[in-house]
Amino acid sequence: MQVHVFGGADEAARAVAMVIASEILKKPDAVLGLATGSTPVPVYRALIEMGRQGLIDFSRVRTFNLDEYVGLSPDHPQSYRRFMNEQLFDHININKANTRVPSGVAADLRAEAAAYDRAIEAAGGIDLQLLGIGVNGHIGFNEPASAFPHATHVVDIAPSTVQANARFFDNADEVPRRAVTLGIGGIMAARRVVLLAVGRGKAPVIQKTVAGDATPDVPASILRFHPNAQLFLDREAAGLL
Ligand code: GLP
Repeated sequence: MQVHVFGGADEAARAVAMVIASEILKKPDAVLGLATGSTPVPVYRALIEMGRQGLIDFSRVRTFNLDEYVGLSPDHPQSYRRFMNEQLFDHININKANTRVPSGVAADLRAEAAAYDRAIEAAGGIDLQLLGIGVNGHIGFNEPASAFPHATHVVDIAPSTVQANARFFDNADEVPRRAVTLGIGGIMAARRVVLLAVGRGKAPVIQKTVAGDATPDVPASILRFHPNAQLFLDREAAGLL
């Protein structure tokens, strides 16, 4: 796992956007694994700008998002599908039919999860997986657990994550308690993984991810075993390394 430290959060986000842009330039029909949360927003902003300037063509790019809240329909203001449309897809020349977010409202969520993994496989696998990280070390919605879950699955969101994500909802009671998420196996199968973390709030978990035990109790720590994983950090997130 390589660690890149930047002076500021914007610089780190721009560097991640450059990595994604070069992937698309190299492979115009690249399969991108995308993430939500506040951290990737500046990355998406930079990609939108590069698209406007005609530097990248998204028309053949395919995307799979990491996760979705169970019970939120695609048009719910806090659904990750809506987030992706608003933060990225509505502003670039991507074919929306080539953008996938797991459904949180499928009648059979297990079947939906299995179909999601099959769709990723049919697309040839993920070329580049973008990740944020939760303060408890979660990636996607893979929460601290006793084992690393392999496939896309339905998960109970940890109470600390419910609290952390309450800022996006009117109150913590409105935060869904379950999500559909790509498994750790799905993330590890990506050919390249880029995790972006900024701010001092992430420093303790980045320290554990990089230098603590590799354990399912800190899900991101498994990235140490990925052959092509990079952490992009600002100085604050790297503050305890
Ligand atoms: C959510 C998402 C994660 C994201 C995390 C951190 O729980 N499921 O994919 O990494 O939040 O969010 P933020 O970037 O806002 O700190």
